[in-house]
Amino acid sequence: MSDIGEEPSVRVLISEAEITSRLQELAREISRDYEDKDLVLVCVLKGSMVFFADLARKITVPLRFDYICVDSYGDNTESGEEIELRTDLSESVAGRHVLVVEDIVDTGRTMGYLFDLLEGRGAASLAVVALLDKPARRKREVEIAYRGFEVPDEFVVGYGLDYRQQYRNLPYIGALESSSPLG
Ligand code: IMP
Repeated sequence: MSDIGEEPSVRVLISEAEITSRLQELAREISRDYEDKDLVLVCVLKGSMVFFADLARKITVPLRFDYICVDSYGDNTESGEEIELRTDLSESVAGRHVLVVEDIVDTGRTMGYLFDLLEGRGAASLAVVALLDKPARRKREVEIAYRGFEVPDEFVVGYGLDYRQQYRNLPYIGALESSSPLG
């Protein structure tokens, strides 16, 4: 697919209303589990930004924000073997409860990489909240403490997720309707 050629259409998989209501449930669980804990929410840029912002505002316990940027896909839809750290956290997580906010766990390589990176930093706990789980393509096991939705083995976009940096601003999650970009 070229940037100027035929654009694929997007079929809605998870509506805006469904996302809002599931986020409310996740935030309720998280608020209960992290009561009286020194919580740091870590946003994995760029894809988790929309999910992070909406989820964080529904969580009712005090928390800090931090950001980490990793690159695994480049501009393609095929999961890269190599994960690169672009921007690290800005604060120490020693003694704090870290909840990594991820848009989608696909092969599991990105979350595996982040766990390896953060585990040695003395956090009181380390857990993941993932909006989407695509278990069909898992290569590395990842424990997802809080899961929004399971999605089928299709390339999904919207609500922060991109295809070649496009579609992030769609308010819903959709599947690209074209010959599968995953090949
Ligand atoms: P993993 O390392 O294969 O688990 O992939 C994690 C990252 O790949 C996510 O944070 C996304 O940025 C990207 N990704 C995986 N699957 C999709 C998809 O279906 N649509 C958009 N991005 C995806």
